[in-house]
Amino acid sequence: MRKKIVAGNWKMNTSVAEGVELAKGIVAKVAEISKGVTLIIAPPFTHLVPVAEVLKGSPIGLSAQNCATEPKGAFTGEVSAAMLKGIGCNYTILGHSERREYYGENADKLTKKIAMAFENGLKVIYCVGEKLEDRNFNQHFDVVSKQISDVLFTLAPEKMANVIIAYEPVWAIGTGETATAEQAQEMHAFIRSTLSAHFGEKIAENTTVLYGGSCKPSNAKELFACPDIDGGLIGGASLKADDFIAIAQAW
Ligand code: PGA
Repeated sequence: MRKKIVAGNWKMNTSVAEGVELAKGIVAKVAEISKGVTLIIAPPFTHLVPVAEVLKGSPIGLSAQNCATEPKGAFTGEVSAAMLKGIGCNYTILGHSERREYYGENADKLTKKIAMAFENGLKVIYCVGEKLEDRNFNQHFDVVSKQISDVLFTLAPEKMANVIIAYEPVWAIGTGETATAEQAQEMHAFIRSTLSAHFGEKIAENTTVLYGGSCKPSNAKELFACPDIDGGLIGGASLKADDFIAIAQAW
């Protein structure tokens, strides 16, 4: 049985003090979430240590937003998967469209990052999603299929138990324009069939596939009701504890 997950991607937002307050606000309300739903938050690197302290004893998972391709050494400005694990992270987001677009993250780098994450016991929230022009040219399935096959198909099947996929159409991220439930379900079903063709039906059925892109309390219910949508990766709406919790209550 795959997990239902709502993950908050804070991106480069909040001061440390604000982030700690936000985490406290989420912890205070976590009892209002049904037991079958896992909450994860992904604050900026600088916030992880104090936020880990706030999350202690709560069921909320802690995620980074990225990790290095290398284990250690002369890589100025990078943060390794081992460092993240060492301060209490359980997950890292990888392949977010903002990192693919602005920081040149390609399949080769992402394959290395996933290996680092797994070596250090981190689960991976692997993001995929097409740009508007891809959809306009009817290439959205090809783009997503390639993002999956170039990276995830290099993994041994048993590693897929540590992968959560987030489908985030780039045109819906931070724009207020959400994919319709039909568009999202269609892509999620496609992702599952892509996984099934390579890894087999059991792994495809057990892989959590999140939707991301302007997901908010007002549209989460309709999205999460779709058979292949197992929750959300939430950006803007994860910066308010009430909205984040309301999204997690959408089932
Ligand atoms: P958004 O971001 O919810 O602000 O659209 C989602 C994401 O990029 O993960």
